[in-house]
Amino acid sequence: MNTLPSASSSPLGQPLDRVDGPLKVTGRARYAGEFQVPGLLHGSVVTSRIARGRILAIDGRAAAAVPGVQLVLTHENRPPIAGYDDAYEDQDAAEGRAYRPLFNERILWSGQPVALVVAEDPELARYASTLLQIRYADEAPDTDLIGSLEHAHAAPGELPKPRGDVDGALQAARLRLDLDYLSPVEHHNPLEPHASTVHYLLDGRLEIHDKTQGVQNCQQYIEKVFGLEGRVRVISPFVGGAFGSGLRPQYQLPLAVMAALKLGRSVRVSLTRQQMFTFGYRPRTLQRISLGAALDGRLQALTHQAIGQTSRFEDFTEHVVKWSGMLYQCPNVRFDYRLVPLDVFTPLDMRAPGAVLGLYALECAMDELACAAGIDPLQLRLKNYAERDQNEDKPFSSKALRECYAQGAERFGWSRRPPQPRSLREGDRLVGWGMATGIWEALQMPASAKACLGTDGRLVVGSATADIGTGTYTVMTQIAAAAMGLPVDRVEFRLGDSSLSRAPLEGGSATVSSVGSAVQRACAALRQKLLDAARRSPASPFGAASFDDVEFVDGRMRLKDAPHVCIELTRIVQAGGALEAEARAKADGKRKAYSTATHSAVFVEVKVDEALGMLEVSRVVSAIAAGRIVNPKTAASQIVGGVVWGIGMALHEETLIDHNLGRYMNHNLAEYHVPVNADIGDIEVIFVEERDGIVNDLGSKGVGEIGIVGVAAAVANAIHHATGKRVRELPITPDKLL
Ligand code: MOS
Repeated sequence: MNTLPSASSSPLGQPLDRVDGPLKVTGRARYAGEFQVPGLLHGSVVTSRIARGRILAIDGRAAAAVPGVQLVLTHENRPPIAGYDDAYEDQDAAEGRAYRPLFNERILWSGQPVALVVAEDPELARYASTLLQIRYADEAPDTDLIGSLEHAHAAPGELPKPRGDVDGALQAARLRLDLDYLSPVEHHNPLEPHASTVHYLLDGRLEIHDKTQGVQNCQQYIEKVFGLEGRVRVISPFVGGAFGSGLRPQYQLPLAVMAALKLGRSVRVSLTRQQMFTFGYRPRTLQRISLGAALDGRLQALTHQAIGQTSRFEDFTEHVVKWSGMLYQCPNVRFDYRLVPLDVFTPLDMRAPGAVLGLYALECAMDELACAAGIDPLQLRLKNYAERDQNEDKPFSSKALRECYAQGAERFGWSRRPPQPRSLREGDRLVGWGMATGIWEALQMPASAKACLGTDGRLVVGSATADIGTGTYTVMTQIAAAAMGLPVDRVEFRLGDSSLSRAPLEGGSATVSSVGSAVQRACAALRQKLLDAARRSPASPFGAASFDDVEFVDGRMRLKDAPHVCIELTRIVQAGGALEAEARAKADGKRKAYSTATHSAVFVEVKVDEALGMLEVSRVVSAIAAGRIVNPKTAASQIVGGVVWGIGMALHEETLIDHNLGRYMNHNLAEYHVPVNADIGDIEVIFVEERDGIVNDLGSKGVGEIGIVGVAAAVANAIHHATGKRVRELPITPDKLL
């Protein structure tokens, strides 16, 4: 049913330019905060300056008196909200009770929204929002993970089972390392800040333009919380980056809905850049790794513990530690994962959540083990290569990590690496070469898609997924074109509308796998309908043909055995009318017997000016094994973006909190450093061939996450090779190198 037509010019694997590129570069792509709606009002969010306590009084009279101000919305005058009394859920909700904006007078973190000022234009709203007089009863906040480790509790959820006698093996090991690694809070900073434009329709329905990775997640959330079943549509055709920040509905969405319902008007709420630091983020995390190994570097025991921060109302969890039991062969393994509740907002998935932290610690520790054993870091990885996933006791559906190591090393020139730190120089600078491994799970979630061939011969395929800049529009167009044997310019893919076919959140690197599989199935069902329609016409040469007898190539259906017997697809629909088919795809049962993952090998060169501590990442080679690559251009862009962010994680990014105030102090892009072009050297991406008949019909594993995993460790390891210094706390800023 799902085999692809055997067209020699299949669009799969072609480096097609982004089909949405022209709309974006000409400014015609509209983002959530840009939609024009008649009579639109604008809301400005007022946030708490304290981190813990309660509001004693809010005096909004001065704000309300400004001409043009329509509403000062607080917990005291918000509309009643039916769903506030039940715990509601969203598809990426953490364990616990989700934050409810303007629920009551309690303050749970610094930056919590305490009021929304709504006015005729955004500047007026923002000005009036500065006039609120708010009195608080302060309580001393605790926002310091490291100072509160004794308050850690076991994280909810299961860890992979321990194996062997870890303590005995650690004690007996000839080589033993006990290492702590620390990573800071990092905030997603997509170019497009979060915004919601709520269009209040005359019949009371809401059409909402929201910045999100899940239109149906937001639709269900608003319908449930506000009791608006069947009356909400969420639209999000373009997203200016998200990285996980759009996986949960953010507070501007319910605030805009509240104001729209209260006023019976359309309302927009856009967050400022500073306010982008008032919700989810990558949590500060302490990791402890113990390694026991034989003198030749063979691992005998491994423990991996992570302690991350969370809020007082939700337990945010991510997979930090499990990778250590699956990436390397090791008989004695134990995991531990704890959370410390603090007076902060709940963390949130951020690109390669968990893995990016866990692999930072693990891959730095492996580098330290290589030094202790006196063997090359790449040789150490090969010596401990896992042929099976020992956590799950399953084989991998495919694992071309050896090829990643080999091709990445070859391209980088790794074999010329002198083992001793401080042995490479270029002028005044020390040069260092480091490497690390990356891993990410290859998931597939249930998804649906609908395909329609119109009488104009154009194929329109839709699913309520998102394109957060990853290339969804483009790769789905390619998958559909390949499945129908049509040129890509006759295919249009639609997404970002809750009224389209059911799709999961756009996340976890699972969109090609999940939605792409659904697109394939919908197209297969449509091919069947085309054949059925063609057979119905009198004297059809396809009268006796079964589905397996025909193929779809170059806009035609033809008999496999007699290719000259063919018909234009356009003629079929012109004769019998447009045809459409919807289909759902979910993970195949055959996956159950396998572990499915993407892998990478990252090689990094740094140049360090020891006098100043200044550092340049001059070269990166990232070799990726992710199954079939549908579009090498958009996929390579994903990996390059991940590498850049990994460099940011290694060297720049850190949201600093003043623990006396419980407040982030560098909540802007001047003081929250991200890499700029001048920080980025040469980045080369290699996709190694990996055939996988298990993971899904496409054989594609997804590349959204894997590019960042391991990069920070490779940079840290290169810095050690250059300088001889081990810095076990990110980011590795110049002061730490002096
Ligand atoms: Mo990704 S953190 O699943 O958007």
